[in-house]
Amino acid sequence: MAEVQRYHAFVIILHWLMALCFILMLASGIAMEEFIIDKSLKFKMFQWHKSLGVLLLISFAFRVLARFIFKVPKLPKEFSKKDQRLAHFGHLALYFFMVALPLSGWVMVSSSVFGLPTFVFDTFTWPHVPGIAGNEGINGFSRGGHKYMGYAFTMMIVLHIAAVVLHLKKEKINLLKRMSFRG
Ligand code: HEM
Ligand code: HEM
Repeated sequence: MAEVQRYHAFVIILHWLMALCFILMLASGIAMEEFIIDKSLKFKMFQWHKSLGVLLLISFAFRVLARFIFKVPKLPKEFSKKDQRLAHFGHLALYFFMVALPLSGWVMVSSSVFGLPTFVFDTFTWPHVPGIAGNEGINGFSRGGHKYMGYAFTMMIVLHIAAVVLHLKKEKINLLKRMSFRG
């Protein structure tokens, strides 16, 4: 088995917590849109989806800070130049969706004609983006962006997991060790 270096413990914890939350966000978003759900439950799901989305937006800021503060471990030396470029591009795309999805969701609710507030887990009100309330153009654009980026993000996550499995099968490189405390 090839030698691998690990990410910092803080990054590891944040990676797995955020991964779980993103999967819940994608599942709840699709359920809200595609399934016929009782109105009061749907309202609760919207508030829950928006609350977790806001927390993910805040967590993203910590994730980016952590990337600058803690050293990013070098990719295994067995990685070809092409694999290194693919890994960097894949991670960059994941980072893009991690911030673009909550931002587009925030813009969407802020530009809605309904103007419903976002109560983050019933503790505080997250403000709307100022100056765009009721703007149908911005609302349509951000709604479309949120939806299609949701699908593209799902695809990137599948590729991300597939890459980990492929490197293990083909080159016997266990990348999971880079994102875990033991092993
Ligand atoms: C953090 C990452 C997020 C992910 C992965 C995500 C994902 C999704 C997905 C997949 C849908 C279904 C889209 C469709 O099929 O039309 C959806 C819908 C929705 N999301 Fe998010 N979302 C996120 C953050 C947010 C945030 C921060 C807000 C608002 C503050 C938000 C508000 C909404 C709303 C209002 C809908 C319903 C859209 C509609 O009525 O057309 N989302 N989300
Ligand atoms: C579901 C949402 C997920 C997101 C948004 C995500 C995002 C990311 C990002 C951005 C990195 C690069 C970290 C950096 O260099 O700063 C990373 C690394 C990694 N992720 Fe995920 N991840 C997710 C789920 C998963 C899952 C389910 C697995 C399980 C196979 C996984 C395994 C890994 C591993 C092993 C690494 C280290 C890769 C390396 O640098 O060699 N991730 N992830």
